[in-house]
Amino acid sequence: MDIYEALYTTRAMRRLKPDPIPYEAQARVLDAAIRAPHIGEGWRFILVDDPEIKSQLAPLYRQGFERMIGGRPEELFAEVIQTDTQMGKTVRSGLHLVNHFAEVPLLLMGFGRTRDGAGVYPALWNAMLAARAEGIGSTLTGFLQSYFASEVMEILRVPKDAGWYLHGVVVMGYPTGRWGVAARKPVHEVAARNSWEGDLGFTVPEPLWQK
Ligand SMILES: Cc1cc2nc3c(=O)[nH]c(=O)nc-3n(C[C@H](O)[C@H](O)[C@H](O)COP(=O)(O)O)c2cc1C
Repeated sequence: MDIYEALYTTRAMRRLKPDPIPYEAQARVLDAAIRAPHIGEGWRFILVDDPEIKSQLAPLYRQGFERMIGGRPEELFAEVIQTDTQMGKTVRSGLHLVNHFAEVPLLLMGFGRTRDGAGVYPALWNAMLAARAEGIGSTLTGFLQSYFASEVMEILRVPKDAGWYLHGVVVMGYPTGRWGVAARKPVHEVAARNSWEGDLGFTVPEPLWQK
């Protein structure tokens, strides 16, 4: 697959089929992940496909989501969820994952040795790009580590007081939907040159890669 196609179309896929991901594909994804920039390889990854463990994590994921938004999504987003706006789509997609977290075929949990996730996120993103090349959908999630890191680490039997931090959970599975270019504000609205407000020198009204 062309690298630009992977970069432009690796968007959050939260509607996933329950079909398992073969170990050969998992191996290619993880082996590509560890080619990423790193901090002395201070990382460890856990793949979770055990239904029992996923069913322990699913309620924590929902609670994390509810803590972040400050209430029950079905109530807080009751109106926007009905609309055809980008927000409506994102909320429906987020809620779908909340309601089906236990059925996600594979979770990739990334652990690092620094308090921030700088040493681990490049590898998780590499994994997501490699997954894209395999036709596997993924979403980077943070609710578990933001609100329930110690509970998750207990469930996964991560050694205590050994200096490990949970940094990100990537959900993976074969998508039910189609790949499309990730929607973003144009680059000239979020980038500058030489100073905060400096003229970037170019504008990009439409994505430069199209199918
Ligand atoms: C650090 C981080 C944590 C995130 N945590 C979550 C999460 O817990 N749940 C979720 O549905 N999306 C989460 N997201 C957002 C999605 O991964 C995704 O990037 C975003 O919805 C944009 O999707 P798109 O690429 O399809 O436009 C997180 C993103 C980042 C960078």
